Amino acid sequence: MLIAANWKMHGDRAFLTAYFEGAGALSWPEAQTHLVFPPATLLERAAEAGAAVGMVAGAQAIHPARDGAHTGCLSAEQVAEAGARWALLGHSERRAQGETDLDVAAQLEAAARAGLRGLVCVGEGLAVREEDEAEAYVLGQLAAVLALPAPALDALGAIAYEPIWAIGTGRTATPELAQAMHRALRERLEVAGLGGLPLLYGGSVKPDNAKALLSQPDIDGVLVGGASLDITAFNAIARAANE
Ligand code: PGA
Repeated sequence: MLIAANWKMHGDRAFLTAYFEGAGALSWPEAQTHLVFPPATLLERAAEAGAAVGMVAGAQAIHPARDGAHTGCLSAEQVAEAGARWALLGHSERRAQGETDLDVAAQLEAAARAGLRGLVCVGEGLAVREEDEAEAYVLGQLAAVLALPAPALDALGAIAYEPIWAIGTGRTATPELAQAMHRALRERLEVAGLGGLPLLYGGSVKPDNAKALLSQPDIDGVLVGGASLDITAFNAIARAANE
């Protein structure tokens, strides 16, 4: 099980201190990996404080290039030096700013170069879902990533299915709908020899819906936004996986 917290553009040093103190005071299920994706300014501190409580830090985004004239961007090498072990790639909020499937594939190549694991996010918007095109759309988003040769593909650590209509809206996909998409993803990954890759669900995951989602056969974890900002809620989500 992979339980991941995406803080998005939330948090400051005081928040971080309280968060990891809180994490240290709670008990966490074993046989789970807990990831935290803080804003870049907090990455180094999160890597240190997270290590003390068994949480692994990652970057919310990376640029494909190693360095260069890319104002405001961070390379995989830079976030790795700051302590990141993972990077979110192609989150829908980044895709909405113009990131393409090819950009996401190039980011995974960069992650591989820097020794990071990539957590690639996919997911359809409401119009695509209503047209009954969701599965083809989501599998299409992965095509460029799965076309990468080793060693880039070896850096693929997990995939998160996050239907855009469920992110931050309180409107979660039903466990059955999420499971159906995860099954389709699994079958596609099996063809690529990656059937064992963890598949996370994301989109309004909360303590009260985590158990139903995580008990689906092809849901191997969750990527949590809003509810991950409350360490008690995030812990309750992690514990729901073991109930
Ligand atoms: P949410 O965000 O849990 O607030 O819906 C999930 C995400 O965007 O990763």
